[in-house]
Amino acid sequence: MTELVDTALERIHSSANLADLEAVRVDVLGRKGVLAQLSKDMGKLTSEERVQRGKFINAAKQSLEGAYDALKAKFESEALAARLDAEWLDLTVPAPGPKRGALHPVTLIQWEIEDLFRSMGFSVLDGPEVETEHHNFDALNIPPDHPARDMQDTFWLEGHHLLRTHTSPVQVRGMEKLGPPLKMIAPGRVFRNESVDASHEHTFYQLEGMMIDKDVSVGNLIYFMKTLLTAIFHREVTVRLRPGFFPFVEPGFELDIRCLICGGPGCPVCKQSGWVELLPCGLVNPHVLRSSGIDPKEWNGFAFGLGLTRLVMMRYAIDDIRWLQSGDLRFLGQFA
Ligand code: PHE
Repeated sequence: MTELVDTALERIHSSANLADLEAVRVDVLGRKGVLAQLSKDMGKLTSEERVQRGKFINAAKQSLEGAYDALKAKFESEALAARLDAEWLDLTVPAPGPKRGALHPVTLIQWEIEDLFRSMGFSVLDGPEVETEHHNFDALNIPPDHPARDMQDTFWLEGHHLLRTHTSPVQVRGMEKLGPPLKMIAPGRVFRNESVDASHEHTFYQLEGMMIDKDVSVGNLIYFMKTLLTAIFHREVTVRLRPGFFPFVEPGFELDIRCLICGGPGCPVCKQSGWVELLPCGLVNPHVLRSSGIDPKEWNGFAFGLGLTRLVMMRYAIDDIRWLQSGDLRFLGQFA
């Protein structure tokens, strides 16, 4: 009997961890364990023997349970110590600073150009992205049957509304609201129903400009455009002026710049031509002035529409327009 108890004690002591110990407990102290075995033949004993056996069992129970409890407590405190060790925090370590966000490159350049034009006395105007057909087309001398409407694939909405295809409707709003003389720019988001590739997006940014005064000439226009481009690129940029047709300007021009990504030989951004159409412009068509209530005999002006998105791509040598709308933090983080 003593041997049985000793073996059981030894088994308890030889368990290496809590899981071991639990298995041993089932074997030794459980329903089929040593103590149960010792009580099995109690019925056959004399009352004298039964008293002795009872004492023995009690003593065995005490020593087995005592050994079990002690070892269990030891394992548990070791586990706790290990956990405390692993989860220890050094509260004196300085916290890492907040991560700084970055402005979108379009915002960066937009703000730069706004500052430049403000310094030359221009107001910065805003207009709605959901426009009326009137402001986006009719008031700009583009009547419903005019072929120029096909040049701008339009997202039409209900009730003669649309997503503005250019920032030029803000010219109309500026003339209606402020009247002449007028010096304004209007940066903003525009939309066209285009299939998307490296140089086309359905959503992009333009920056419109307009000046109305007495005796405004193409000379004034060229002066402002040169000032603008020098300020933006901080370097000599090769430009060329071609005649360009827009119903709201007459004469109209296309101002191209040498592709700043490839420098001339051709790449996807300049569609292999070496030139990038950057800036359509011209003198405001008298029809446009008249439809906004301005007398073209008294006033005239120039207007330009800068492709802000394209300009950003040139300035930062971004070779795929899709990056700009991607929301990809690896891209955006570079402008911090
Ligand atoms: N609104 C024209 C476009 O988006 C650009 C433009 C603006 C042309 C101003 C001339 C003058 O195509």
